[in-house]
This record gives sequence, structure tokens and C-alpha cells, in this order.
Amino acid sequence: MWRLVFLLGTHMQATAQSTPGDVPIGWSTDYVRSLTQKRVLLWGADQAAAIVDAQAAYKRCARLLLVCSSHDAMEDVIAQVTSEEPIAGVCPPLSAPVAIGAAGTVSNASFVLELTGRYQEIGGAPDIVWNYV
Ligand SMILES: *[C@@H]1O[C@H](CO)[C@@H](O)[C@H](O)[C@H]1NC(C)=O
Repeated sequence: MWRLVFLLGTHMQATAQSTPGDVPIGWSTDYVRSLTQKRVLLWGADQAAAIVDAQAAYKRCARLLLVCSSHDAMEDVIAQVTSEEPIAGVCPPLSAPVAIGAAGTVSNASFVLELTGRYQEIGGAPDIVWNYV
């Protein structure tokens, strides 16, 4: 799993130049569309590029678990991400985007174990992991 996270992290650096509200650079239309109701785990969610990507995914009605470096950062990130409305007609009937947070690091085994216990809050284990750390 961590090899995947590393590869995605490398890819994510290419998206860092986009501006809030835009579809991040490097995301194809098909990829953006595929994010609807996907469960996405973000490491380093308080990084600027992560917030841009999380906002774009939230607008596509994704289900986000935002791992931040601190509790204060987490509250700020959730507020920023949920300030976006999903694009009209994107969410399937009876569904909505989700954005929940956690504060910790991948090097803390207790935290990682605790985090797996929270997957149910986004509907199950993540479909996608994005790394910005
Ligand atoms: C590691 O994570 C646990 C569970 O979240 C937390 O209680 C603990 O303070 C963390 N340790 C460090 C060094 O951050």
C-alpha cells in the first residue's frame, strides 16, 4: 500500500500549481468524473495542493478523509473544503459529499490503526489515497 501512496504523491506534485475552484492540473475529465462517491484518504490534507484537490473532489461528490498535522489545521481544512457546494446534478439520488478529518502522521502506528477504525465514516476502506506530505 505505501508504494502506491508514494507513486501517487509523486503524481500529485504536478497538481500543485492549480488555483482553488479549478480542476487540478493533470486530472483528465474522466478521472474527475470518476471521483463521485469515491472514498479518498488524503495524507497532508493541510497542504495547499491538497486543499485544492479536496475541494475539486468534494464538488464531484467524493467522500474525503482528510489527515492533517494538527487538530486546528484539520478544522480549518474541513471548513475550506465544505465551503464548496457539489456541482448541481453530480451527486446520485440520496447521496452527498463527505469531508471528515483526523490529526496525526503516517509514522504513528497507533494513529494509523485508529484511522482504519474511522473508514466506516466515509463508507468503508479508501478507494484512493493521495499523499501531500
Ligand atoms: C500517536 O497517535 C495516538 C493515537 O491517535 C496519539 O494518542 C498519540 O499522541 C500520537 N503520538 C504522537 C507522538 O504524536
